[in-house]
Amino acid sequence: MPSVALIRRYAFSSAHRLHSDALSPEENARLYGKCNNPNGHGHNYAVEVAVTGPVDPRTGFCADLPALDATVRRTILEPFDHNDLNALPEFARLVPTGENIARVIWDKLRAAGLPVLSVRLQETRDNFFEYRGDR
Ligand code: NI
Repeated sequence: MPSVALIRRYAFSSAHRLHSDALSPEENARLYGKCNNPNGHGHNYAVEVAVTGPVDPRTGFCADLPALDATVRRTILEPFDHNDLNALPEFARLVPTGENIARVIWDKLRAAGLPVLSVRLQETRDNFFEYRGDR
């Protein structure tokens, strides 16, 4: 049975502040720049979720699209959209960088049972992050 990847794009808008308690105030300022400002700032994120599976001969689909949308909505979009990522339990001990947001999305979708291949997060016009799990 041939396996195909389905890649679907979703969007959410969130606030965050980049600050690490493991770094000195000077290092936080140097590394994160304006992103370390105490009041935070926002992004319109786009996330591309790739899932894989055998093509079902009855449906022609490799994934149950309504189920995928429902899972992404429930686990990612509803908690993240128009929210402060730093205030979420997922980021209580993680700096909400693009790297960590991509990893958290991967972990949550995997925990929900989705056959995730990769998570690609677009944070700004020029910044993208991709996570494919630990290999
Ligand atoms: Ni930012």
